[in-house]
This record gives sequence, structure tokens and C-alpha cells, in this order.
Amino acid sequence: MRKIIIAIDGYSACGKSSTAKMVAARMGYAYIDTGAMYRAVTLYFKENHVQITNEKEVEKALNEIQITFRHNDKNNQNETYLNGLNVENEIRKMYISEQVSEVSALPQVRHAMVAQQQRMGKKRGIVMDGRDIGTMVFPDAELKIFMEADMQVRAVRRQQELLEKKQMVNLEDIVKNLEHRDHLDTTRKESPLVRAQDAYLLDSSYITLEEQVEIVVNMAVSEI
Ligand code: C5P
Repeated sequence: MRKIIIAIDGYSACGKSSTAKMVAARMGYAYIDTGAMYRAVTLYFKENHVQITNEKEVEKALNEIQITFRHNDKNNQNETYLNGLNVENEIRKMYISEQVSEVSALPQVRHAMVAQQQRMGKKRGIVMDGRDIGTMVFPDAELKIFMEADMQVRAVRRQQELLEKKQMVNLEDIVKNLEHRDHLDTTRKESPLVRAQDAYLLDSSYITLEEQVEIVVNMAVSEI
């Protein structure tokens, strides 16, 4: 059976990561959360006071950053490591969500992350979720999905996720953050969030996670 690349793009909090993770498990594929990579870069920039307007500083910082994923057997999750340190919890916090879209709009950051993502998917057999996977990272992906959902549904889902991590954030602030990131992600110059022409549109507003996974797995199976 041939191994394919499944690219899942779309807006924040539409269920991309949960769907991608479960699809990867069902297919026996690796899963890469590219949003986590941009979040880890943002954390590094914040901790090291990197001025995002200073190209030299950004370049130097990018050379010092190593992002890896390791599987945690206890919770059966892939966790993000920044220079050998587990940053999985830290990168999901609101102060990172508030800065990540500015950082991810920097061309130098995008070039570095895209190159790493392309290396990770070289052998195929991978599910990658993000904003530009089907358009920029793997324009030749065999299966491309573009996810969207109603804003209210997205915000409630994100609030629930944060609550599970013991972070209380009110719905209004979440909506503001999602709208802000949607705006920056869709209007940036460098590989903006846009649906690839050959991507299937999947609206996750009123279907369950299991249904989303079933739809994607069925499409993937018909490709292999
Ligand atoms: O997926 P997640 O919401 O964690 O992504 C955080 C941010 O990283 C997005 O709002 C977007 O600005 C950026 N991102 C990106 N390209 C990707 C994945 C994420 O620009 N492939």
C-alpha cells in the first residue's frame, strides 16, 4: 500500500489537530502539529527578548532553535520540545496565542519552519495540520482538507480545551483572539491561509469529532 501525505489546513480551533491526530492513529501515520512549531518559536522569542523587527536577531534566534516532537506514553500524546525542554503546556497558553500570528508572519520564520516540515514529511505516511500545508509545504499532498466552523462553535471548543488545562479564559477574549489570528493569518504576505484549489472543504460546526475522522479516513483510504 502506498503511503500518502494528508494535509489538513484551516482556521484556528476548527478541530484540525484533534482530527489529524486521530486520522494519523487510524492510518498508522506520523502526526505533525505545525502550529506547535510556530508557538515554540514564539516562546523562544519571548523568553529571549528577540525583536521581531530586527532581521539579524530573528536569524540568529532561528539558528539557535531546535524543535522536536516526542511521544509521551503516559498520555499517548506527541509533545513539543524546544531545545530539549518539554514546552507542550507553555506554548498553549494565551500569551503565546496572542503573539504567535505576528511571529508566524515573518518570512524568515516561515522559511525555516517550512523547510523542517518538508524534511519531516519526506518519506510520506504523515498527517500534517496547519495553515499552508496544502498550498506551500506539500502542494503535492495526495489528500488535502480545509476545515472551517462557526466562530461561536470554535470559541466554545477552545474554551473547553483551555479549561481542561486549568486555564480560565472568557469567551469574549477567545473570540477576539481567534478573529485577530484569522485576520493576520489570511492577510499576511507570506503564504497566507487560503484553501488550496484541490482541497476538500470540511465544515466541522455540527458534526462530531468521530464523524470528521471517519470522513477523512474514508477519503484517505480511497487514495492508497
Ligand atoms: O494551529 P495553531 O492554532 O496552534 O497555530 C498557531 C498559529 O501558528 C496560527 O494562528 C498561525 O498564525 C500559525 N501557523 C501558521 N502556519 C501553520 C501553522 C500555524 O502560520 N502551518
